[in-house]
Amino acid sequence: MAESMQGWKRSHRCTEVSGQNIGETVTVMGWVQKRRNLGALIFVDLRDRSGLLQIVFDETSVGSAGFEKAGTIRNEYVIAVTGMVQKRTAAVNEHLKTGDIEILADGIRILSEAETPPFPIEENSQTKDELRLKYRFLDLRRPDLQRNLMLRSKVIYLMREFMVKEGFLEIETPILCKSTPEGARDYLVPSRVHPGNFYALPQSPQLYKQLLMCSGYDRYFQIAKCFRDEDLRADRQPEFTQADMELSFVEEDDVIDVNERLLAYVFKEAIGVDLPIPFPRMPWQEAMDRFGSDKPDTRFQMELTDVSEIVRNCGFGVFTGALADGGSVRGINVKGQGAMPRKKIDKLVEFAKGYGAKGLAYLSLGEDKSIKSSFAKFMTEEELSALVSAMEGEAGDLLLFAADKNKIVWNVLGALRLELAKQMDLPDPNAYHFLWVTDFPLLEWSEEENRYMAMHHPFTMPKEEDWENVDEDPGSVRAKAYDIVLNGTELGGGSVRIHQDDVQEKMFEVLGFTKESAHEQFGFLLDAFMYGVPPHAGLAYGVDRMVMHMVHADSIRDVIAFPKVKDASCLMTKAPGTVDAAQLKELRLNVEPDET
Ligand code: AMO
Ligand code: AMP
Repeated sequence: MAESMQGWKRSHRCTEVSGQNIGETVTVMGWVQKRRNLGALIFVDLRDRSGLLQIVFDETSVGSAGFEKAGTIRNEYVIAVTGMVQKRTAAVNEHLKTGDIEILADGIRILSEAETPPFPIEENSQTKDELRLKYRFLDLRRPDLQRNLMLRSKVIYLMREFMVKEGFLEIETPILCKSTPEGARDYLVPSRVHPGNFYALPQSPQLYKQLLMCSGYDRYFQIAKCFRDEDLRADRQPEFTQADMELSFVEEDDVIDVNERLLAYVFKEAIGVDLPIPFPRMPWQEAMDRFGSDKPDTRFQMELTDVSEIVRNCGFGVFTGALADGGSVRGINVKGQGAMPRKKIDKLVEFAKGYGAKGLAYLSLGEDKSIKSSFAKFMTEEELSALVSAMEGEAGDLLLFAADKNKIVWNVLGALRLELAKQMDLPDPNAYHFLWVTDFPLLEWSEEENRYMAMHHPFTMPKEEDWENVDEDPGSVRAKAYDIVLNGTELGGGSVRIHQDDVQEKMFEVLGFTKESAHEQFGFLLDAFMYGVPPHAGLAYGVDRMVMHMVHADSIRDVIAFPKVKDASCLMTKAPGTVDAAQLKELRLNVEPDET
């Protein structure tokens, strides 16, 4: 039977008790991790979010009723214990913070009984994800998840502290917003009062924070929930948290400076890592050319080399064909893998095809200088040796080449580089390589929509020197946009914003909006620009991703209390769910039966 805790007050968390308290009486409360009966003595490991503490029940100190009660407790019961702190009678447990002490109980209350949990509550659980997420409230008792969420809380606290000291105001922006056509798919909320009309949940506070700049708030930040209906991956959730900011009267360098100091502060205080600032910066074009990615993992080399000029006139049709189509031929040198068996190379070819390649050409350099290759027979001795030397190929290396449109070549070799590095254990898991990627293209051609789309968002400022070319060559215009990249993930991104109504109107025109539709969608922003707008710029981090890197988790699910699974559902609450016919009627919604 569950007892009340009336009259009892917790004095310490489990691991707040230490050798310094020996001889003192303490009251601790928590969950039973384990009970062992040794005849005259009962040992219990008590757990709370701080860790474990050993309790000893001895009939002479706890009394016969207490001893009997201690004999009934089982794993995950919630109990309260009072007793005296003493040195451990049995062997010291060096793995535990409280391994040299124990509590000799003189009182016990059972605050709640518990069913046997469907999986053991322990570190590094091997339990299947589905079961863990169905019983997330139990999963969240595991020490590794508790540490992750405690660190997350600290990171958010440290960010707030830093931002407030730097003169930022925390201002909340709406969750019920207007749907805008750019960006990912919106989550929609039907309006009861305006049948047939919908709110959209914010993909980010972008427009509101720009309006706050127009209103004079100068430096804004917010820990903001954002919602995007897009395909989930290990580092994506349909709802996630941004640390979002916007600053007035600043340029790109000012935003970068305050964010480098913010990151250095948070990483030092949260996990004791010293980040050397300033971070390196790399223009987007260089990142693509060297790493095949706009978020390069710079913890290891294996950079791309453009060999187009060397193979331009060779006899290998795959290469010359790609070049004739305006593409390129590029390669990576996989150091020391020249002896890779054919079967394994074939697997890499399949992997490359998954990223859009039509194939992958290889050249292995044997230790005896022999060459094995899928294409060497189409090349002269001179071409081959020029190719090997451009690739800095040495005996024992494996050279891999992709020939196609640039976008595909980058995508394929960028992905192969990461995959091979993983197989070869190249990235140092304890290194934190921060990098600013700058000078992104302003626009990106969309094959699906058959028009240019904003690469970051439509409010991003073009580089002045490129803007005059926007009509002849929209794809060549670079933006004042920057991403902060950590070990190959995009941790955050931002830009200097357009603050001139003529530039903004032109930008909408390039994106294919008519004047009317631009005003229909974004009229409030264009209006605001007519009443005095300061130059402004900003950035937003993915907080989940940041914490995920700090704790070396494989998925952002491990740093979110109640995450969703791949199909965007919650296995615990079973959201999303159907609703009453009455609710639908009130919203004047008709739902078509699912025919899939
Ligand atoms: P952006 O769209 O680049 O920029 O988003 C900023 C950061 O948010 C994180 N992020 C996500 N994290 C988890 N799950 C997702 N589905 C997800 N989508 C994005 C990423 C990303 O770098 N308003 C602009 C910022 C600005 O210009 O100031 C914006 O939202 O870490
Ligand atoms: P194929 O002419 O398609 O038989 O290809 C000949 C060789 O070139 C095979 O080893 C293919 O894997 C490789 N290959 C085919 N297409 C490409 C490509 N776009 N880039 C690099 N290698 C390719």
